[in-house]
Amino acid sequence: MSVLGKKILLIISGGIAAYKALELIRLIKKSGRGVTVVMTKSAKQFVTPLSVAALSENKVYEELFSLTDEAEMGHISLSRENDLILVMPATANILAKLAHGIADDLPTTLLLATDSPILVAPAMNVRMWESPATQNNMSILRKNGIGFIGPVEGDMACGEFGFGRLSDPDDILVALNEFFAPAVKVLTGKKLLITAGPTHEPIDPVRFLGNLSSGKQGYALAVAARDAGAIVTLITGPSNEVIPLGVNAVKVTTAEQMLDAVNQALPVDIAIFAAAVADWKIADYSDKKIKKQVGDEIKTLSFVENPDILKTISNLKNNRPKLVVGFAAETDNVIDNAKAKIKRKGCDLMIVNDVSPKTGIMGGDHNKISLIKLNDEQIEHWDLASKTQIAKQIIEYIGRIKDE
Ligand code: C5P
Repeated sequence: MSVLGKKILLIISGGIAAYKALELIRLIKKSGRGVTVVMTKSAKQFVTPLSVAALSENKVYEELFSLTDEAEMGHISLSRENDLILVMPATANILAKLAHGIADDLPTTLLLATDSPILVAPAMNVRMWESPATQNNMSILRKNGIGFIGPVEGDMACGEFGFGRLSDPDDILVALNEFFAPAVKVLTGKKLLITAGPTHEPIDPVRFLGNLSSGKQGYALAVAARDAGAIVTLITGPSNEVIPLGVNAVKVTTAEQMLDAVNQALPVDIAIFAAAVADWKIADYSDKKIKKQVGDEIKTLSFVENPDILKTISNLKNNRPKLVVGFAAETDNVIDNAKAKIKRKGCDLMIVNDVSPKTGIMGGDHNKISLIKLNDEQIEHWDLASKTQIAKQIIEYIGRIKDE
């Protein structure tokens, strides 16, 4: 199916995240598709129809009983002449109306009258999202074949944190591309292993040595690889990310457990080591909580090196995956360090990112990477994009080079 030329009817409902619809409209237009926008009354409190019309280069529809609109285009044809209806952001209110067939304004009437597929990108406060009413409505909508993009976990406009945050416009565009042109199955039947997240190295029963890795990039890679047709084993350290459907997940805590799980998952065709494995573990784990005592000197911890999983697997004589991919998270001399690292580890491809705090990459939703191949002077530098988008591009890239 050609992606170009497909028409989207975008319904903007009235949440604080409505301003992000402007960015989405820009991205949709850039990707070569047409977009017609309908706004709810409250959406107009957040973004103006004028900005929407300017960006979409189209008339914006607002009122159900507008004679000009009905003369130009009845609401039935408006609901039918598009390939997809996307509600973004979708408030708890519009989801409730959609679940129960309430049609009391133009957007909800279109949703009821349409025979086109409907996708919704919810956005609301975490309590509203978690409320039994919204969750019941979500089950109804899922049963009725409505597709969902997000929501994701994160900071909210109201200052709270949790699920209910609108997916990034970038990720919504990925979902739209996916809808119109499902992922090319570049890895059909290939066995693929991914490590993700941090490791936690225990100090005593209540303390550990850890790092700020969220696991987001590794989990996104698992989703992209699954969508590309691979049989995916995701070996994950402690992470708040949701285990993706259709992926074999093995949860571990320490680097040693991660190495064991990796060995058990072999043989595989491709291995991607995206985990931020602790380089050291505590030499003298205390099985009792280390107590602070008045007058005590501060306890000195000693460390021993953890196994280097990437290096171990890259240097296997038997069972070495055909393609081994490592990550180099650097804060200085990024490219030079990564070039040295690919030689030292012996992997085939190194994905490099600058994780100095100013980039916000560690734990954030976006990533900016460069790719270094073993014994290849040419380095690819990719633009900043969401971790979902980067994952998709990495998997497509791996699909291209896997047989070289
Ligand atoms: O040496 P450094 O930790 O920077 O290397 C990063 C790469 O090596 C990542 O791909 C990471 O998953 C992997 N690694 C590993 N085992 C370790 C340390 C790092 O697999 N103990």
